[in-house]
Amino acid sequence: MTSTSATPDAARTRDLLGAWFRASGRHGLPWRRLREPYPVLVSEVMLQQTQVDRVVPYYHAWLDRWPGFAELAAAASADVITAWRGLGYNRRALALHAAARAVVERHAGRFPWEPKELRALPGVGPYTAAALRCFVLDEPLPVLDTNISRVIARLALGQATARDVPRSALEAAARSFLPAQGGRDHNLALMDLGALVCTSRTPLCGSCPVSTQCRWYASGRPLPPPDRRPPAPRFEDTARFARGRIVDRLRNGPAHKAELSGILPPRHRPYLEAYLASLQRDGLAVPLGPDTWALPPG
Ligand code: ADE
Repeated sequence: MTSTSATPDAARTRDLLGAWFRASGRHGLPWRRLREPYPVLVSEVMLQQTQVDRVVPYYHAWLDRWPGFAELAAAASADVITAWRGLGYNRRALALHAAARAVVERHAGRFPWEPKELRALPGVGPYTAAALRCFVLDEPLPVLDTNISRVIARLALGQATARDVPRSALEAAARSFLPAQGGRDHNLALMDLGALVCTSRTPLCGSCPVSTQCRWYASGRPLPPPDRRPPAPRFEDTARFARGRIVDRLRNGPAHKAELSGILPPRHRPYLEAYLASLQRDGLAVPLGPDTWALPPG
């Protein structure tokens, strides 16, 4: 029976979602072919702030060059930072490198599945830890990325977005749908539904396999409350932009400060010292002499 229910029926929702996923999920994504911690960690770190289509070629190139934790751990930082060119958020490259070194040095090459040890790996926050356990070990866990959070907020909580929903509420709602087995496909199905159907701006509720179970749909798809956060600054005005420019230049080799100043838009130039100091703190740049900088060699 299909009815517009106030509270979704978890078993029915799972069935509908599972059938949709088998027919329409993104089964060709390359990182879904390997159920091992290394490729899943690489893909999840790359996907944290970068779109799927953009990540695909980087993922293949990375695995060709560094096929496992041991190979990545042995790489030079400068090579790892250089290979990340174009993905943005360079600190992710260093975190991945440091995680590979931790697996090799702290855990003798055996991946640390124990939750505390897993979370202690550089770059592994609550989302990545859950994604690893779910996508490699098939554990039924809430995996709350942006897409899944939005789907759960709408389906279970009747909210247009997950923006104002406490994480604990999202987690409890996500848990209420989890199957006893097959956590991997369940979460991938939610993720794909969020990417392909239950999108942020123009959700395709007419094609949604679980619209009959959705609290947001049942209540007439109310709009979200207005976003009161101040508007984000233009990217070109941010320190992230300026730091990215500097690292990009250093990928071609060491550079004198005068040259680094010259590649920054004038409004950023007074802050060059501060940018270099913060890049050094993050392990993304090192001074070679009083006025010359480079990527870290190690
Ligand atoms: N498959 C597994 N993890 C994914 C992610 N973070 N984004 C897209 N597809 C995925």
